[in-house]
Amino acid sequence: MHDTTISTKDFQMLAGIVYQETGISLSDNKVDLVKARIAKRMRTTRIPSLKEYINVIENDASEFCCFIDAMTTNHTYFFRENKHIEYMVENLPQGPMHRIWSAACSSGEEPYSMAIQLAEAGRKFEIHASDISDTMLETASKGIYPKDRTRSVPVPLVRRYFQQGQNKWDGYFKVKKELREKISFFKYNLISDPPRDEYDVIFCRNVMIYFDHETRQHVVNKLYQSLRPGGMFAIGQSESLVGVEHPFKYLRPSIYCK
Ligand SMILES: C[S@@+](CC[C@H](N)C(=O)[O-])C[C@H]1O[C@@H](n2cnc3c(N)ncnc32)[C@H](O)[C@@H]1O
Repeated sequence: MHDTTISTKDFQMLAGIVYQETGISLSDNKVDLVKARIAKRMRTTRIPSLKEYINVIENDASEFCCFIDAMTTNHTYFFRENKHIEYMVENLPQGPMHRIWSAACSSGEEPYSMAIQLAEAGRKFEIHASDISDTMLETASKGIYPKDRTRSVPVPLVRRYFQQGQNKWDGYFKVKKELREKISFFKYNLISDPPRDEYDVIFCRNVMIYFDHETRQHVVNKLYQSLRPGGMFAIGQSESLVGVEHPFKYLRPSIYCK
């Protein structure tokens, strides 16, 4: 029997750990979500009480990572908010090699969607894709997805860029090697890792929605430093930079330029 009762004090302590590590603000209305996710970790690790679980995450780096993974929301899908990708493809000139960063790529659907459309348009590109979650990065590097996850990808593109699984992989699609090789996946924490070398494009979508104002400001300005002058920056459709002090030029909803 697992005792997953979370007192207000425990919740605040756990929320503090999550905030410090990821920048994610867990408000009080997330108590049930946090409880459910911790209960799942406790069942998986067979740790019988919350007190012991807290002790484990404080002392065991690997369970700490699993805990952080469990606290993040990884929902994504192929061709999500595709207007940003279409805009990028239309506006990147033919010819030079483009350096693109999908920051907070989750299980990889975003960078693969970019790669498919850039390849279709004949652009030269390399994509760097990062996330804080090891589990998501592992899924992303494998590039294997249940068939229904590819439902928004036009059928001819599924045929061109995915291999259909057989036997035990029936019902799965794997991104073809040539496309996978265009993307390098790596761990990057938007809160604590330093700015990176200049990119032509940065997508940081549907993660800042979980950040408070101060964290958003820190992340947006760090990503500004990681773009080359004239580079494009995209945030999620339901996100906003209103109230955030930043030097970006507004281009269109959720798209900015350095
Ligand atoms: C909802 S997904 C967004 C995926 C994709 N960008 C999209 O728009 O569909 C949010 C991702 O942000 C990641 N994340 C949360 N906090 C982070 C941080 N501090 N640094 C890097 N990634 C973070 C989570 O692990 C999760 O995979």
